[in-house]
Amino acid sequence: MGQYVKAATTDELQAGQGKLVEIEGKEIALFHVDGQYYAIENTCTHQGGPLCEGELEGTEVMCPWHGARFDVTSGAVLSPPAYMGVTSFPVRVSASDIEIEV
Ligand code: FES
Repeated sequence: MGQYVKAATTDELQAGQGKLVEIEGKEIALFHVDGQYYAIENTCTHQGGPLCEGELEGTEVMCPWHGARFDVTSGAVLSPPAYMGVTSFPVRVSASDIEIEV
């Protein structure tokens, strides 16, 4: 099992926003959807687009480069041109700290 590491505070991330965080050398896209936080690998499996900069619609994020969609709750790919999902990471909130298990 990994350990939970503080990634951000809740006031840094408004609902509907994403943010890039780096934990132990991993680039992780952290998203806030209706009071819930989700963390997935930041790098799109198509050509490496930064998912943290993608448009968030509900729990789907669209890669800003060519429009592939991913489910931020699971990392699953939802539409091409990406065909492989990304890793997702467990997130918990402790007081105002958002922590990601890596
Ligand atoms: S790099 Fe993400 S869709 Fe192409």
